[in-house]
Amino acid sequence: MIEKIAAQIKARLGAYAPETAIILGSGLGALGDQIENPVIIPYGEIEGFPQSTVSGHKGRLIIGRLEGKDVLCMQGRIHLYEGHSPQSINTFIKAFQLLGIQNLIVTNASGSLTTDLPAGTIMLIKDHINLSGSNPLIGPNDEAYGPRFPDMSNAYDKELRAKAKELAKQENISLAEGVYLMVSGPTFETPSEVRAFRILGADVVGMSTVPEVICAVHSGMKVLGFSVVVNLGCGLKEGAINHAETLREADKASANLIKLVRTCIREI
Ligand code: HPA
Repeated sequence: MIEKIAAQIKARLGAYAPETAIILGSGLGALGDQIENPVIIPYGEIEGFPQSTVSGHKGRLIIGRLEGKDVLCMQGRIHLYEGHSPQSINTFIKAFQLLGIQNLIVTNASGSLTTDLPAGTIMLIKDHINLSGSNPLIGPNDEAYGPRFPDMSNAYDKELRAKAKELAKQENISLAEGVYLMVSGPTFETPSEVRAFRILGADVVGMSTVPEVICAVHSGMKVLGFSVVVNLGCGLKEGAINHAETLREADKASANLIKLVRTCIREI
């Protein structure tokens, strides 16, 4: 299936040879619309590609030019809480590997575990904690793609992070740095979980990204990750959390994050 997905995408790439893939999270889809001379492939047109089902997530690949580079962008991501298997995430990341992708930029929306990172904060992901309850590499391992026991000591590439921090400073964009903890969702956390995750050493919590990053590291890709804080975790402020609020906050910070991601693509 990996080869089949790669072949279907390759057949539509034309002269494009992207080395950088971008996965856009909730509310950050606008970056996909900025890609020039795009080849647009809805996931539904790729046999074997998982389908995205969440509102605010479009579900298509956009291949084209951005900041003078060829890029492959996923506008709309695949979440475990939709019922997708973790292994299905590995399948399309491995297809990207076959297409020659070497860098993966991931963005997501998250809930904050500390009032020091309020809604609207853009956080560079330094590391993650996988509490999703699964791992996308469970199953037989094909050594042609990557090792059985991948090293995760530099999952979010240190040099790329240093570069991103430098570029954020140049662009006058305020950028925090911290640890992303993944839960499967779809429930938001209880107040006790928010307290527990903070004690574990995480700064924000979300329902995505970790599977893609694990698969990308396994594939030998360099990863750069950004998280937009869209709400304070449950119990850190009065009232309930809702998906509409999440999308609104992501929208506000997205203009800055889009600018930063574009700069990173240009300079990487
Ligand atoms: N928790 C988990 N995932 C999220 C949140 C949250 O508070 N906000 C956006 N994604």
